[in-house]
Amino acid sequence: MITIRRFGVAAGAVAAALILVTPVRAGAPDQPAAMYSTKCKSCHTYGQGDLVGPDLKGVTARHSRGWLASWIRSSERMIREGDVTAVSLFRRYRQQRMPDHQLSDVQIEALLDYLEAGGPESDSRKAVRPTSMAGVKDITLGRDLFFGRRNMSSGIAACSSCHAIQDPQGTAGGSLGPDLTEVYSRYQEKGLSQFLERDCFPRLPAARLRAVTSDESFLIRAYLRSADGEPTWVDEVRAPSVGHSNDRR
Ligand code: HEC
Ligand code: HEC
Repeated sequence: MITIRRFGVAAGAVAAALILVTPVRAGAPDQPAAMYSTKCKSCHTYGQGDLVGPDLKGVTARHSRGWLASWIRSSERMIREGDVTAVSLFRRYRQQRMPDHQLSDVQIEALLDYLEAGGPESDSRKAVRPTSMAGVKDITLGRDLFFGRRNMSSGIAACSSCHAIQDPQGTAGGSLGPDLTEVYSRYQEKGLSQFLERDCFPRLPAARLRAVTSDESFLIRAYLRSADGEPTWVDEVRAPSVGHSNDRR
């Protein structure tokens, strides 16, 4: 019984990991936050007033989903067809026309869900940026931070001065702290992220509460993830070749 249950848990964890990894890999650019910042942010703010177009905060309450989907696909067609709301918007913001967006139903749905859930305002408060999305470049940068080839913004010592780790380039690092090769799978994304918010020595008078910035944390986690052998969507295409990311073959 116990074995079966254990197996059930493990299988569940694997399934969860697959669910997490698969859609990200299939559509990282489709992530609503990324979509918003590449396709909408140049003309719209979220909660900071009009830019080229209106502030998008609360937009899902101002219009129906159907209207919004048509608008995002082609505001021009709606204006041409004389939709009253569309025409009055166009009159009010006549400096620039909003371009048409070729997005699927699913992408628009995700984008509107994102806007409704607080959009970019909630990004900062939100969960940990998942390293399943990390690329080879992120992993390389994370490795550079880990080994002190790039300085961390808070000026703390490189992780490798106290921790050893094994990666495709060999094993290196200090021995004051534990070896971190398999730390990613033990802590997982969230646990590791929380851990990295503080210094490894909490009892020292903590001059700095945040040992690394959230960007640095992302990069280091991406590196730890790859050292631990957990794939990211880029690595599934090509095995990680840390340090050789410019090699185009
Ligand atoms: C090049 C600038 C530009 C870009 C990029 C852009 N918009 Fe717009 N948007 C506008 C303008 C300008 C308006 C006001 C209506 C008009 O003049 O066409 C508008 C209006 C809107 C409205 C109606 C807002 C309201 O308060 O009624 C929504 C919704 C909207 N845009 C969503 C988006 C989304 C989602 C994206 C990204 C997929 C996007 N826009 C990208 C310029 C832009
Ligand atoms: C000055 C030495 C030192 C530096 C620098 C340092 N650590 Fe640590 N770290 C330690 C020690 C010592 C421990 C063990 C603490 C304990 O057991 O309470 C530890 C524990 C950890 C753990 C938990 C390991 C486990 O097996 O549970 C992680 C994860 C970790 N460190 C990550 C990092 C990362 C990432 C960096 C770089 C941003 C870093 N550490 C920098 C000394 C250091």
